[in-house]
Amino acid sequence: MLKSVAVLTSGGDAPGMNAAIRAVVRLGTDRGLAVHGVSGGFRGLIEGDIRLMGPRDVGGILQLGGTLLGSSRCPEARTEAGRRQALSQLSARGIDGLVVIGGNGSQTGAEAFSRLGLPVVGVASTIDNDLLGTDVTIGASTAVDVALESVDRLRVTGSSHHRGFFVEVMGRDCGWLATMVGLAGGAEAIVIPEQPTAPEALADEIRAAHGRGKRHAIVVVAEGVPGGADALAAHFAQHESHLGFEMRVCRLGHVQRGGAPLMHDRLLATRLGAAAIEALAAGRHGVLVGEIGGRSVETPLAEVAGRTKAMDPSLLALGARLER
Ligand code: F6P
Repeated sequence: MLKSVAVLTSGGDAPGMNAAIRAVVRLGTDRGLAVHGVSGGFRGLIEGDIRLMGPRDVGGILQLGGTLLGSSRCPEARTEAGRRQALSQLSARGIDGLVVIGGNGSQTGAEAFSRLGLPVVGVASTIDNDLLGTDVTIGASTAVDVALESVDRLRVTGSSHHRGFFVEVMGRDCGWLATMVGLAGGAEAIVIPEQPTAPEALADEIRAAHGRGKRHAIVVVAEGVPGGADALAAHFAQHESHLGFEMRVCRLGHVQRGGAPLMHDRLLATRLGAAAIEALAAGRHGVLVGEIGGRSVETPLAEVAGRTKAMDPSLLALGARLER
């Protein structure tokens, strides 16, 4: 019977992580568990930066972006020695379960701990939305919204100056974020790594937008496209002089991660944090909790680790038809 658990956030922070921490701490204590917070992700686990938390320690964080616990990218956690050290930190404190809130790399780490015999449950959280086992990850919706605010503003200034923008968004190797931003932002073109666009074809699309009387062109580029927005801009500067628009680059970068979580992410994080505790308390572990079709679903970490969710190609096709 589980008595004591720890929770950590790992990898890139995502809006809603705090709401998930809050749910884990409050639901865990409600179930009679001792709940510990680990500072700084897997690094804190290895170094023993672990503290007991109570319901009041997570007051006032539901609406805040980032993560109260802090996060890191920790190469030591990928080593056998690092993992053994982390396990001994947990057993020294009598902690017999772990909740890992994070994205792809973090859930791969969670799976490795699970293979070493530690009861682990992952909570799907990354702005990239590239995790299997969930329709959408915690933080992704807010990140899209943050990027949209910038796209809307770029369209205003672009229209005033007859300019086009290559707007580079995050997403690592996955084009989900770029596709959503492009679709919801009414972009003239979307470029993602899953479906490479030849620069000549892109130039045709931009010229066509100009020909249709548009006063701006927004091209949303996923950072995973080789060379990103800079490479496209450099290519166009050299080879394409008659686009109709003067093209500029705007890289949104980490701005997309720092937003305050919107309603969807607060609710998703609350539900998944709670689901993680329910799973652990019921003796189910070695799984990622996500949401599919509006229901929380547990997927074996072994099926999630090291794999990425494929983009739905019909979304990009829809974007292309709406670009008129
Ligand atoms: O995984 C989330 C993410 O924001 C990616 O979209 C991006 O490629 C990466 O993290 C950036 O990582 P870091 O903050 O370590 O530079």
